[in-house]
Amino acid sequence: MNHEDNELLCRVGPGTAMGQVVRRYWVPAFPSVRLPMQDSDPIRVRLFGENYVAFRGSDGTIGFLDEACPHRGAPLVLGNQEDCAIRCLYHGWKIGADGTILETPNAEASSLRKGLKANAYPTVESHGLVWVYLGPESEAPPRPVYSWESEKPEHTLVVDVDLDCNWVQVLEGLLDSAHAGILHTDILKKFPPKMRAEADAMKRGLLPRLEMERTDFGLHYAAIRANAGSTEDMDQVRITAYAAPFVTFIPSGGMAFIPVPIDDTHTKFYNLWWDSEQRLDTGPGHEHRLDMWGLTEEILNMTGMAPVMPPVGEIGRRNVWPQDRAAMRAGESFTGLPGITAEDAALAVGMGPILDRSRENLVASDIVISRTRRMLLKEAKAALSGGASSQWQSGKTPSHAITAASGDLPPGTDWRDMVSDHVAT
Ligand code: FES
Ligand SMILES: [Fe+2]
Repeated sequence: MNHEDNELLCRVGPGTAMGQVVRRYWVPAFPSVRLPMQDSDPIRVRLFGENYVAFRGSDGTIGFLDEACPHRGAPLVLGNQEDCAIRCLYHGWKIGADGTILETPNAEASSLRKGLKANAYPTVESHGLVWVYLGPESEAPPRPVYSWESEKPEHTLVVDVDLDCNWVQVLEGLLDSAHAGILHTDILKKFPPKMRAEADAMKRGLLPRLEMERTDFGLHYAAIRANAGSTEDMDQVRITAYAAPFVTFIPSGGMAFIPVPIDDTHTKFYNLWWDSEQRLDTGPGHEHRLDMWGLTEEILNMTGMAPVMPPVGEIGRRNVWPQDRAAMRAGESFTGLPGITAEDAALAVGMGPILDRSRENLVASDIVISRTRRMLLKEAKAALSGGASSQWQSGKTPSHAITAASGDLPPGTDWRDMVSDHVAT
């Protein structure tokens, strides 16, 4: 990949081609817990390199506006909330959750208020996430409703972390089955018995055969490890789904990971689990997941991945990776890092703010990465030239049917049978 394409792929700020692409899709804006039902103060949300203010109106609805006051650009996040509106501290303009300018104490003309509106964006809150659509109003697609949203909300769990690197680096880690058996070797050993066979297969099959298929929502790909199933005569198959541009579904239980660009060099990374058999908001299922991925409060603070969402303040996080070098030397740990997330994050962030992809040496097992890049770049180039977009998630495959899958298959069987709901393109 040349430098020009790399820039095109990674940059999503206002005015960029990929920025146009990602703004066509609903995206998680922040976890609901950041704006609790009662007594919550407005928060600043940064997405795709732009600042917004979010507040919860007295009726529970969420207002999501450009952070800059439409009068003279003062930060609305500092303002006072009044019922379902926010009042700018500077000259007291009062702006409703829908962007209507309700009061302008420093200007008499009501005609001014009629002709002017603040930019307000539609939001939907579901299962611990607040989603927003930031694109042109007239082109807003229906919000995709994913499989976890048919669970009871308490049977889902969302954990967000902040990473100091470009979002494509995080996405590429999620679409890279080949690294699991190496980078995560320490943690695979600790998998519970139910998932143990799968973990063992990942460690044995470091060279999976990768097959992928473009679908209307993005892509499905299968990592096939020959004769690595629960019995020797079976292949182990792990199928990942990528609902472009943000959502990835990873096999081994209900799991989705969503990297979202805060700006070009910071990523909000959502980890999402669901389980119809047990609640995940608290209790053993909750603890187990945080432990297994290394997302306990202690680890988040130690690694500087804990999200900060102060009303005003630094966006940059101090990601640090405390490695247990002694354990590595003693052969007790391959990475010395505290958990799967820290392992993935240390690699993605360690590549630098924006990886220079012109210096890579891709190999066959990187096929999904290169195809994904091509798919994203095609969209960016279409946006540049004013061409038509692919409109991932057109709804041909219903969004609630997008799924990952894993299991044993007799050699020669088509893995696509395991995800038969998808519509290939
Ligand atoms: S800048 Fe907000 S009211 Fe003047
Ligand atoms: Fe990983």
